[in-house]
Amino acid sequence: MTIRHFLRDDDVTPAEQAEILALAAELKAAPLSRRPLEGPRGVAVMFEKNSTRTRFSFEMGIAQLGGHAVVVDGRDTQLGREETLADTGRVLSRYVDAIVWRTFEQTRLDEMASAATVPVVNALSNEFHPCQVLADLQTLKERKGSDLTGRNLTYLGDGANNMAHSLMLGGVTAGMNVTIAAPEGFEPFGWIVDAAQKRAAETGATITLTNDPRAAADGADALVTDAWTSMGQENDGRDRVAPFRPFQVNAELLARAAADVTVLHCLPAHRGEEITDDVIDGPRSAVWDEAENRLHAQKALLVWLLERFARGER
Ligand code: CP
Ligand code: NVA
Repeated sequence: MTIRHFLRDDDVTPAEQAEILALAAELKAAPLSRRPLEGPRGVAVMFEKNSTRTRFSFEMGIAQLGGHAVVVDGRDTQLGREETLADTGRVLSRYVDAIVWRTFEQTRLDEMASAATVPVVNALSNEFHPCQVLADLQTLKERKGSDLTGRNLTYLGDGANNMAHSLMLGGVTAGMNVTIAAPEGFEPFGWIVDAAQKRAAETGATITLTNDPRAAADGADALVTDAWTSMGQENDGRDRVAPFRPFQVNAELLARAAADVTVLHCLPAHRGEEITDDVIDGPRSAVWDEAENRLHAQKALLVWLLERFARGER
């Protein structure tokens, strides 16, 4: 069987993404209906950065699929003493049926995946957060209907972070017209824009990059934001407050969006910075459903990977 990984949003085709999201809705309605990890079979869940949602949702989701999650801080493993990523991938593949990993550079995930003989899932890297975007799309489908084609998703904030990149790539995969509004110098990485343009050409979606938050918010069906300082950027020497102030998701920007706009934030939120209390706690916010959907979307992803692409031969 061919092995498949989920390291970035375009690792699945538009049809495959739709299939995973349909399964996520099924699992939300019937949480214990699929038990591919019965045995129990194991999943390694490793973190090199902090986490609340990802840790709890994967650990509970794997239990609901009948399996056992081995959750470790990556820094406590021999990775912290320079065992190679490839050797770690080979060894973990002998114990577990999938590897879920939160780390820094995307190249680290690529290296692990190149040697692993089980699916590797990106639980957040510097460049991408594809599991989060599956949950975001599930949340939007719940509110806008199952076909998101032609809907306008606007992200405001750091355009060069994992959420901006994954929303761009995952959003156009779902056929959404994605606008990324960021301060000058914080635009998305060019190579990721190129990948998203390629995917957009397949689905008929559009990508707009702008430094104008007001124009970006006009008529948006979804307004999304994220931390101005991502994990690992705390000491990068850049001013991550003043240039971002005009991009705050507040009542004024909300008023420019569609009347039925849905506000998303992957959380944790920095209230008063990228989003105001009245917006995150207000009627247009779907952030708590979005957090819940991490559980359902990730279970669907694991079922999909394990049933179709588990354990490659090398
Ligand atoms: N949204 C998200 O990934 O949250 P955690 O960092 O708490 O896992
Ligand atoms: N962009 C944020 C997302 C946190 C879930 C970070 O990487 O810290």
